[in-house]
Amino acid sequence: MSAVFDVFNLNKAFSGLTVTNDVSLSMAPGDRVALIGPNGAGKTTFVNLVTGNLRPDSGEVRLNGETVTKIDAIGRVRRGLVRSFQVTRLFQEMTPAEHVALAILQRDGRTGKMFGNFLSMPDVMDEASVLLTKLGLIDLMHRKVSEIAYGQQRLLEIAMALALKPKVLLLDEPAAGVPQSDTGRIEQALADLPADLAVLMIEHDMDLVFRFAKRVIVLAAGTIIFDGSPADVTKDAAVREAYLGSYANASHAA
Ligand SMILES: Nc1ncnc2c1ncn2[C@@H]1O[C@H](COP(=O)(O)OP(=O)(O)OP(=O)(O)O)[C@@H](O)[C@H]1O
Ligand SMILES: [Mg+2]
Repeated sequence: MSAVFDVFNLNKAFSGLTVTNDVSLSMAPGDRVALIGPNGAGKTTFVNLVTGNLRPDSGEVRLNGETVTKIDAIGRVRRGLVRSFQVTRLFQEMTPAEHVALAILQRDGRTGKMFGNFLSMPDVMDEASVLLTKLGLIDLMHRKVSEIAYGQQRLLEIAMALALKPKVLLLDEPAAGVPQSDTGRIEQALADLPADLAVLMIEHDMDLVFRFAKRVIVLAAGTIIFDGSPADVTKDAAVREAYLGSYANASHAA
């Protein structure tokens, strides 16, 4: 299938330190990719660069064949490139219903009405309700974010991302900070993502990676050192050296 997302020769340095080193990759609709690598490898920076949150030193990003490197982050969201953040960025005083409604209004370019009473906009609230039901949050839709569990906040972020109708979804550690007892619900939400959506997930929990991913990309010191199948990644000498040594050894010992 032809690519929906292409990155060519992306480079970024912070004060002389290369954090993204000639990174190229493509994704097709329906892809399930895990991006892994040590802390500081440049995973979040990669997401910041391709989404337009950060300007690359060089390189190109294409969405559905269109070069978007000079288009701002909101323009890229409108074209279907959506990300979630490593740490939640929710408004503590607002409700899940309000968050999802805002995402819908942003998607439709109706943010002029942002401070209007969108809870009384039936089209928006119907759509928000469907999404919140899907993510198991419907009973909490009118509670303040500060009153709901962190795992539920992370599910709300997935609901907001889906409200933007992505074609490519980049998830930066969607289960980070969530107690083990609640990660199952996040994993279920990931399993239920639309089949034709291209998904790239950054994740440190290798068990989750292996259940989710059909393809694994390993980043080490800003460079892609592996791009291939989950079955091959644990056997790769460079990957074991850079990141997976203890996991691979434990798996083989088990
Ligand atoms: N805005 C910035 N200015 C300067 N240095 C930065 C900036 N953002 C990131 N870095 C540095 O770039 C490197 C890569 O950081 P990044 O956050 O992309 O890593 P990561 O792979 O996402 O790590 P983690 O697994 O811990 O989230 C780190 O050395 C970090 O300190
Ligand atoms: Mg990160």
